[in-house]
Amino acid sequence: MTTTRTLRIAMNGVTGRMGYRQHLVRSILPIREQGGVELPDGTRVQVEPILVGRNEAKLAELAKKHDVAEWTTDLDGAIHAADTDIVFDAAMTNLRAATLSTAMKAGKHVYTEKPTAETLPEAIALAQLREATGVTAGVVHDKLYLPGLVKLRRLVDEGFFGRILSLRGEFGYWVFEGDHQPAQRPSWNYRKEDGGGMTTDMFCHWNYVLEGILGQVRTVNAQTVTHIPTRWDEQGKEYTATADDAAYGIFEIETPDGDPVVAQINSSWAVRVYRDELVEFQIDGTHGSAVAGLRKCVAQQRAHTPKPVWNPDLPVTEPFRDQWSEVPANADLDNGFKLQWEEFLRDVVAGREHRFDLLSAARGVQLAELGLRSSAEGRRLDVPEITL
Ligand SMILES: NC(=O)c1ccc[n+]([C@@H]2O[C@H](COP(=O)([O-])OP(=O)(O)OC[C@H]3O[C@@H](n4cnc5c(N)ncnc54)[C@H](O)[C@@H]3O)[C@@H](O)[C@H]2O)c1
Repeated sequence: MTTTRTLRIAMNGVTGRMGYRQHLVRSILPIREQGGVELPDGTRVQVEPILVGRNEAKLAELAKKHDVAEWTTDLDGAIHAADTDIVFDAAMTNLRAATLSTAMKAGKHVYTEKPTAETLPEAIALAQLREATGVTAGVVHDKLYLPGLVKLRRLVDEGFFGRILSLRGEFGYWVFEGDHQPAQRPSWNYRKEDGGGMTTDMFCHWNYVLEGILGQVRTVNAQTVTHIPTRWDEQGKEYTATADDAAYGIFEIETPDGDPVVAQINSSWAVRVYRDELVEFQIDGTHGSAVAGLRKCVAQQRAHTPKPVWNPDLPVTEPFRDQWSEVPANADLDNGFKLQWEEFLRDVVAGREHRFDLLSAARGVQLAELGLRSSAEGRRLDVPEITL
């Protein structure tokens, strides 16, 4: 096995939930373990993480546990080190734009969690900076790499649905308040002043999911709510939840053929799950329908569609859930975060842009901003095209 070179990746926020689990443990370490990423010419590029964060003890522990040689609490130093090739950021959202712009100005490639910024002007400025510096920039669009959504996209490509009419998405689960049982998400997620909130967190995902499967989002109509106004933080201290913990959105999509599709997505951290997966999307079309979760996807064709008749006096006559057939993967679909990392690393070596870039991320930030504004103003808003 020939390894041509090693890309050194400064990984900031690696002690956090996403930085640690999905990016270090599930992506970069397995990529290092497998001897890097294979390039089109048959050679390989290896990766070496440098752990960056604020807490020395935690970093040292992680470095030891995972056999990582270098760690530092000096983010600026790690960004500017001559041998750092890529700066990755998964720290708190409100610190991101500054980290990314410092890195790009230093000529480093960047790979980042979403959202890229708290405001649209900041997100656009980052995309402009990428154009000016010519670095390769990638933004996590993990949902599009999930087996369920890969299958859903394949059904769209194969014309399975006929004319697509609508998409319905259901995302969420119960996030404990933190008083009797500790909350399973960080408390900053529920504080607006710290960059939290369902709309900010999830509409950037929904934007690329809708774009990646159906087409461009043209309008948004949202109602955002704080269902649980008081929560308890990591120290057991009561705090006021200033951010929205649910967002009910309706989006008008335009497909590449110019057809309209209505998408409706409920996102809530105050809902109990009666579904097969924590997120599910249903697409209905004239010729067929499909329901996809993170992993599974089932479909029903027109010819197999039952003909229910509404009669509340009778018990249900059809075994509705049994009338769908599973869509096979027909491929080995690895962890979505890892797959996107591998694609990004190949783009870095080739010196080209990554397909999920800072402009796509800016559209995500735009949709979140417009969602919050739509709710505040109680009206549907157009989503203007962003040009750099
Ligand atoms: N792609 C996804 O599905 C997904 C899911 C959840 C979160 N995220 C994104 O990942 C990011 C991290 O979220 P998380 O849930 O892992 O949060 P987290 O609170 O678990 O981690 C945040 C990280 O930021 C660091 N941090 C906090 N305050 C800091 C400060 N003042 N200075 C420097 N570092 C600081 C923490 O030490 C930690 O390493 C967020 O931007 C979030 O939007 C993405």
